[in-house]
Amino acid sequence: MKAIIAQRPGLLQVADCPPAAAPAAGEVKLRVHAGGICGSDVHVLRGESAFATYPRILGHEIAGEVLEVGEGVRNLAVGDHVVVDPVRACGRCYACRVGRYNVCREIRVLAAHVDGGFREEFTLPAGQVHRIAKEIPWAFAATAEPYTIAAEATERARLSGQDSVLICGAGPIGIVILQVAKRLGARVLMLDALPARLERAKALGADDVALGGKEDVGAKVAAFTQGEGVNVIFEATGSIPVLEDCIQKWVSPAGRVVVLGFPTQAARIAPIDIMKRELEILGSRLSCNQFPKVVRWLEEGWIDPRGLLTHSFPFREAPAAFEHIQQHPEDTLKVVLRFD
Ligand SMILES: NC(=O)c1ccc[n+]([C@@H]2O[C@H](COP(=O)([O-])OP(=O)(O)OC[C@H]3O[C@@H](n4cnc5c(N)ncnc54)[C@H](O)[C@@H]3O)[C@@H](O)[C@H]2O)c1
Ligand SMILES: [Zn+2]
Ligand SMILES: [Zn+2]
Repeated sequence: MKAIIAQRPGLLQVADCPPAAAPAAGEVKLRVHAGGICGSDVHVLRGESAFATYPRILGHEIAGEVLEVGEGVRNLAVGDHVVVDPVRACGRCYACRVGRYNVCREIRVLAAHVDGGFREEFTLPAGQVHRIAKEIPWAFAATAEPYTIAAEATERARLSGQDSVLICGAGPIGIVILQVAKRLGARVLMLDALPARLERAKALGADDVALGGKEDVGAKVAAFTQGEGVNVIFEATGSIPVLEDCIQKWVSPAGRVVVLGFPTQAARIAPIDIMKRELEILGSRLSCNQFPKVVRWLEEGWIDPRGLLTHSFPFREAPAAFEHIQQHPEDTLKVVLRFD
C-alpha cells in the first residue's frame, strides 16, 4: 500500500507502508478516495509545525468508503461514504469533560501527532468517522474538514447576520469562513496581501476588500463600518502585526477577535485595549462536534465548495501538488489528491 510521507523536514515521498490493519473493536477500515492538502501539511513538510514528529503520513482532510467494520460498530456499514474528524481526545481531562475535546490536554491530531490519511487504506476509531451521502462527489466530501474550521470559528464568535466582519487572510481558511459568514448574512471585509486572492474573495461574496501593505486598512475598516470598527474579526493570516492591529485598531467595542493563525512569537497587546472595549479574544482550534452540521451543509447545498476547490492531482503526483501550492499561492486555494 502507498502513502504520502514526510520522511523528515523537506523530504516528501510517495512510499510503501504496511497494509492497514483489520479493524479492532470500535474501529473501521476505510478505502481513501480523496484528501485535501492543508496549509498544516505544508508546515509539517517544511519542518515548521509545532506539533509534528517524523516520519509522518500527511493528510487530515479525508473522504473515503467503509471497507470493514470492527466489532461493536453499529452506526456504519460496509460501503458507506464517510469523512474523517482528525481529532482524537482522551475523554478524561477538563476540556474533554466540558465537551471541548478539540482542545484535549492529550490531543492527537491526524498528520501531526499521529499518522494521517494520505494512504490507500486507513483504519481508525469509528467515532472519528461521519457518514455522508453517496451523491456528494469525493472532492466535495474532502472539503468537510475545512468547513468544520469555519463552523467552529463562526460559532466561537457567536457570529450573526447583524455583525460587520473583517477576515484577515484570503487563503483557504479565510475563504471557508467568508462563505459561512455570508450564508449567515454578515457583511464581510476581506484583507490579504495578494490581489488575486482578493479577487477570488470578491467573486465568492466579500462585500469589500483591503490590500494589505498597499492600502490603509484602518481607513478601509472605518469606511466599511461608519467609523465604528468591525464587530467580529477572524485572524487567519498568521501575522503578528496583523493580530496586533486587529486588537489595537480595527475591532469595535464589544467586539470579538477569533485567533486562527498560530505563530509562536509573542504579540504586544496593551491590557487597556481589551479592557476598555470589553473585547473577547477567542482561540479557535480545529473543531468540536461540527462534522454532523457540516455534512448537512454539503448534502443540502447550503455551502458550495466549488469556489474553494482549485486543483486536483492523482496522489502519486503529491510532490508536484505540494510544489504547486508553495509556488503559486495566488492561483491556489484547496488542492485535492485523488486516490482512485
Ligand atoms: N485554527 C485552526 O484550526 C487552523 C486550521 C488550519 C489552518 N490554520 C491557520 O490559519 C491560517 C490561514 O490558513 P490558510 O491555509 O488559509 O493559509 P494561507 O497561507 O493560504 O493564507 C494566509 C493568507 O494570509 C495572507 N497574509 C499573510 N500575511 C499577511 C499580512 N501581513 N497582511 C495581509 N495578508 C497577509 C497571505 O497572503 C495568505 O493569502 C494559517 O496561519 C494556518 O496555520 C488554523
Ligand atoms: Zn486542514
Ligand atoms: Zn482530554
